[in-house]
Amino acid sequence: MKAAILGATGYAGTEIFKILLNHPQVSELFIVSSTKSGEQLSDVFRMLQKNSLNEKTKSTAGKIISLEEALDLKPAVIFSALPHKSSAEACCRFVEKSLVIDLSADFRFKNKAYFETAYGFPHLELSKNAVYGLAEWASESIKACNLIANPGCYTTASLLPLLPLVKEKVIGNSIVINALSGISGAGKKPEEKYLFSECVENLTAYAPGMSHRHSYEILEQLENEGFKGKLLFNPHLVPVKRGIFAAITAELTKKQTSEDILSIYQKYYSNKPCITINKNAIPQTKDVWGSNCCAIGWHIEAAQIIVFSVIDNLIKGAAGQAVQNMNICLGFPETLGLNLNSLL
Ligand SMILES: NC(=O)c1ccc[n+]([C@@H]2O[C@H](COP(=O)([O-])OP(=O)(O)OC[C@H]3O[C@@H](n4cnc5c(N)ncnc54)[C@H](OP(=O)(O)O)[C@@H]3O)[C@@H](O)[C@H]2O)c1
Repeated sequence: MKAAILGATGYAGTEIFKILLNHPQVSELFIVSSTKSGEQLSDVFRMLQKNSLNEKTKSTAGKIISLEEALDLKPAVIFSALPHKSSAEACCRFVEKSLVIDLSADFRFKNKAYFETAYGFPHLELSKNAVYGLAEWASESIKACNLIANPGCYTTASLLPLLPLVKEKVIGNSIVINALSGISGAGKKPEEKYLFSECVENLTAYAPGMSHRHSYEILEQLENEGFKGKLLFNPHLVPVKRGIFAAITAELTKKQTSEDILSIYQKYYSNKPCITINKNAIPQTKDVWGSNCCAIGWHIEAAQIIVFSVIDNLIKGAAGQAVQNMNICLGFPETLGLNLNSLL
């Protein structure tokens, strides 16, 4: 099968490239860049073994190609790891011919007002046809679609622990998410605040409350499952390269023991290979570094619960979940080509 990656030189795109090099169902890979087309892959992706590049990239002579060239090559699946807006423009050109998996936010919302508040440009018509690709929750609809909107990284880390509790109505109508992200969550773009010397030895919050774009994405998905309350989302930047840690607090609507919460998570996730349930431990980002897993833990204090979750923002929060979605959509084993163990 032929697959193309747009924005492959970025953080998420490079991770998709690495995964697909080892994916047994992908025989040809087209690596697309707006700034590096014509360059040799081995010059740009020096971390990749030359032999592995030759095998799947010989049809483009081991070169990075342009979007126009990729269109002519008719890939069965394209992954777009471009920034929002640019991503939608590119995806629209493939959507009739290929399975499109978009890692940007462009097609994630059905709620027009939420999208426009969060992103500041008009909601896209094509979003109506997109399936929101939170893999553990959308596997049936993913099987029947040709446009998958891959969720945001903070959103994945927040929704996976929250949705079972919302569905079972064990938490009340006020949720506070405190989430910490490594710096790769902001992408490769050069900005002063992401410079090493600005971030190292430094901790801060940013875009608190409902001012971060992912807060609307989280709220829309929670509301789809019956949540009617208020959300506060407090993201923090921490000086690690990758990883998200979320600590989420909510009131319990009825008395729950730790065993009760365990039963709820087992009900939803016991057959989900990318979810790890930790009954007696607080998960750490190093548990899932480089893996496509989300690890979940919890603590009950009087009538409140604190739920903890961790993901690798570039894998379960981006590239890995995108490949998981491709696998589900095309009928391959869900975890084909994906690493489920921490690399730390
Ligand atoms: N980083 C994460 O943790 C994460 C998690 C979930 C989702 N996402 C989403 O995935 C997408 C890619 O994120 P990323 O972190 O990989 O970003 P990134 O490192 O900044 O890479 C984006 C790539 O897109 C290409 N590009 C094309 N037009 C561009 C433009 N106008 N401005 C900047 N880059 C442009 C560039 O590649 P070429 O020059 O090669 O074309 C660039 O390398 C984004 O939509 C992001 O929101 C990221």
